[in-house]
Amino acid sequence: VQTLTVLGLESSCDDTAAAVVRQPDGEQARILSSIVHGQTELHSAFGGVVPEIAARAHAEKLDICVVQALEDAGLTLSDMDAIAVTAGPGLIGGVLSGVMCAKGLSAATGLPLIGVNHLAGHALTPRLTDGIAFPYLMLLVSGGHCQYLIVHGPEKFTRLGGTIDDAPGEAFDKTARLLGLPQPGGPSVEAEARLGDSKRFRFPRPLLDRPGCDLSFSGLKTALMRMRDQIVAEKGGLTRQDRADLCAGFQQAIVDTLAEKTRRAIDLYLSEQPSDPVIAVAGGVAANSAIRSALETVCEEKGARFTAPPLGLCTDNAAMIAYAGIERFRTGARDGLDLTARPRWPL
Ligand code: KG4
Ligand code: ZN
Repeated sequence: VQTLTVLGLESSCDDTAAAVVRQPDGEQARILSSIVHGQTELHSAFGGVVPEIAARAHAEKLDICVVQALEDAGLTLSDMDAIAVTAGPGLIGGVLSGVMCAKGLSAATGLPLIGVNHLAGHALTPRLTDGIAFPYLMLLVSGGHCQYLIVHGPEKFTRLGGTIDDAPGEAFDKTARLLGLPQPGGPSVEAEARLGDSKRFRFPRPLLDRPGCDLSFSGLKTALMRMRDQIVAEKGGLTRQDRADLCAGFQQAIVDTLAEKTRRAIDLYLSEQPSDPVIAVAGGVAANSAIRSALETVCEEKGARFTAPPLGLCTDNAAMIAYAGIERFRTGARDGLDLTARPRWPL
């Protein structure tokens, strides 16, 4: 019986994070500390994450987050069994900052180093929060990713389909930019959508006419831009209600598309795993309550159990990286100081 305590680092996008997670063998893992230092204000003037600014901020803040995470856990590096770090995919300057920090800690302490795929971190989160067993169907929806995965094990994933262009989070962020709403776009578009009429503007439902679970979201922002420009041409500008109605129509198109594709993914999954199916959702877009409740309804329809991590563990964090590190460690996986940072790394 081995209790594992792992320090995790995450720096692949615009959150600098460190966390300590402990799992007694055969028991549910526990988050002992989780520090997330966001960079939203650093990038807000640019309408998106600026990779160079992100990398510098990660390099400046990582050590501070590590010290804080250890202090909050009431532990020191000598209490750790390993250091886990996001080794990709992501903005390479940020990933490198994290990998170099983890290598320094590993070299200084002799602790084993474990490189973690950021997507695996998201995909394994329902096991950290809910203790669900393998296999399960996962919808991973974030700012950079959108895919349906069957999660068979810590390093074994089958991809059923995914976006062929933008991720939904990216579409929310672009929509916010087009309408002059604050970044990140997800929460601000969701808030506007609550005040709007989703039926006033007719957005397309991309790829629903094609079989399978692939998705496409880039057409939505083109449609939105056309509608916006037409209102501006007719009336000279957008009213608050126009903006809210555009947000509501846009969000409803995403909700409907995700709901239908999830139905199809569940059917595919049920043909392989007919008993006791569990469907999990993760990634920043899983914080959207309209999307969450639509997915819940689809799961009810199909007789599947639905699980979603708490919001703070849907968006980027290091607890999911520490936990994925524990899962990899238990399989015997170790990385050396030659661990590479990878901008692209499909599961
Ligand atoms: O998982 P995450 O923190 O980072 C990535 O790995 O991408 O996801 C961030 C994305 C952003 O695009 C943000 O706009 C979106 O998640 N997001 C939302 C909501 N909250 C965050 N999208 C829709 N509705 C929300 N409530
Ligand atoms: Zn993420």
